[in-house]
Amino acid sequence: MSLINLIDFNILGDERGSLVSLEQYQNIPFDIKRIYYIFGTKDGVARGFHAHKELKQIAICIQGECRFIMDNGKQKEEIILNKPNKGLFIDVMQWHEMYDFSHDCVLIVLASDHYDEQDYIRNYDDFLAIGLNK
Ligand code: TYD
Repeated sequence: MSLINLIDFNILGDERGSLVSLEQYQNIPFDIKRIYYIFGTKDGVARGFHAHKELKQIAICIQGECRFIMDNGKQKEEIILNKPNKGLFIDVMQWHEMYDFSHDCVLIVLASDHYDEQDYIRNYDDFLAIGLNK
């Protein structure tokens, strides 16, 4: 199974331009309890380097581009996000890293729960060990 799970959002366009609508349980398959966004990322910065125990997320690059590496402990796959109508589903226990943010990149993330540091696995060896015990 691919580690890259992209959701296509309908573009509701007309002569004025484009619009995308994100709705809980319509095109977003979880409770949207939090939205955060990453922008103004400095040159050479890489982010992420963690997995979540319970949290599900969808990342959408609504402006510019960035590169994701998704990792399940056995294999890695990467993808460039550069379209405002494509959402990358980040499932539980998916180690992810983000690279190569363009200066204009705005990455918006929908999350299934509130921020909780206890839900993070930030050590890669811990991530592997937890995965093996599942
Ligand atoms: P972090 O999760 O380390 O960012 P990334 O994984 O994208 O590199 O978060 C950076 C900081 O922001 C950290 O101190 C936690 C804080 N934070 C919140 O307070 N709320 C949030 O919703 C998020 C995502 C982070």
